[in-house]
Amino acid sequence: MNVADTERAATKLRAAGYDLAESESEADVLIFNTCSVRAKAAQKVFHRIEYLKSVRSSKIGRPIIGIMGCVAQLEGEAVFDHESAIDFVAGTRATDRLGSLIERARDGEGRVIDLGERSEGEGWNVSPVERHSPHVAFVPIIEGCNKFCTYCIVPYSRGRERSRVASDIVREIHGLLESGFKEVHLIGQNVNSYRPKSEEGLLGIKGATPFSKLLRAVARTGIERIKFTTSFPRDFHEDIVAAIDEHDNLCNWVHLPVQSGSDRILRRMRRGYSSSDYLSRVQCIKRAGRPLSLTTDIIVGFPGESTSDFEDTLRLVENCQYHGLYIFKYSERPGTPASRLQDDVSREEKRARFLSLESLQRNIQSRIYSGYIGEKVKVLVEGESAKSENDLTGHTTCHKVLNFPGDSSLVGKIVEVIVTEAKVNSLYGRVVDGSPAL
Ligand code: 5AD
Ligand code: SF4
Repeated sequence: MNVADTERAATKLRAAGYDLAESESEADVLIFNTCSVRAKAAQKVFHRIEYLKSVRSSKIGRPIIGIMGCVAQLEGEAVFDHESAIDFVAGTRATDRLGSLIERARDGEGRVIDLGERSEGEGWNVSPVERHSPHVAFVPIIEGCNKFCTYCIVPYSRGRERSRVASDIVREIHGLLESGFKEVHLIGQNVNSYRPKSEEGLLGIKGATPFSKLLRAVARTGIERIKFTTSFPRDFHEDIVAAIDEHDNLCNWVHLPVQSGSDRILRRMRRGYSSSDYLSRVQCIKRAGRPLSLTTDIIVGFPGESTSDFEDTLRLVENCQYHGLYIFKYSERPGTPASRLQDDVSREEKRARFLSLESLQRNIQSRIYSGYIGEKVKVLVEGESAKSENDLTGHTTCHKVLNFPGDSSLVGKIVEVIVTEAKVNSLYGRVVDGSPAL
């Protein structure tokens, strides 16, 4: 989401006459896009500003410094007290007005701040040159969140859910197709809670929910590959799987965060489902016409999580056989309902639970990844591997990283690769002889 926001900010600023600097040390304006989902991420920006202040030569003059994103939205005025070098604060809905915030700071107005709502009729378009990749594009379909899980800061930092009109999304994807993009990721805090104000773009498309209609509408554009993240379990309707079954370009991957395997903790988190509700969604995903890879997020050490609650999580992970797992240690976020509960699982215990879950997942993943050896998979080649100069890297349709030796002329193409080796978090292979590069 933050990458997509940065792309949008760059598009707006370029239109306002700015250019991206080659490096941080040359820039006249530095804008930090921030995350506040966990305390560590929120602290990062202040460390980074301290660091840049220490390395920038005073000869080139002091840059204008602004912060945008969730820390900006939540801390507001307090940011200026925290770090006096900051000139402006742009909240999560102020992207459209960044240019004027910079101008005001340049004109000498101190403590410039905008925590307002989105501008009326603000466009979502991102220029292809600002995209993080020329092959894969992030397309926000919904922003904000209405779920208010007790540990989570997002509903406060990003506000209520707002869905984009489908015709707008489909138009953007047609544009991406024309610009040569091969893959789109429909993104949002909860993509399957998608509920636009108008049916425009979805009329006449079958589907049990606006989201499954949108999936079919996007699939019909003919773009090569479509992925979507993140899905919320309670809103995960079986028609999503039906849409995937109908359209080959809807990829073989579902990210469905469970957060905990204990019903008691799920209630305390106010997730709105029990472990058996969640497992029924997983069963539905496993019944899909082709194998779908399932990944999840889990928080360990939520207030009051006992050893037996944690064992329930281990059991659920064993049961679901995830292809990937993101584990987070609970981090208290000020102002959330959970911050009123005692953060009573010690640091050592959180660490121990993190390691034990990680080790369980490593075994599961090693078995799943080894199962790919000898299989042919389709990979979108995204670039040269950072680790080995002879290798290319990309993702499979089931969203696994796959590296293989190959010529850089294949970058941006979809090729068929036979898997020869399974690493901890990636696969390795070689191009199938005679595989057409699309
Ligand atoms: N502490 C730890 N992890 C959190 N997440 C969200 N809020 C917190 C928190 N306060 C995790 C959840 C979510 C992921 C993006 O971040 O697992 O799915
Ligand atoms: Fe946060 Fe829950 Fe909303 Fe996800 S669904 S963004 S965890 S409040």
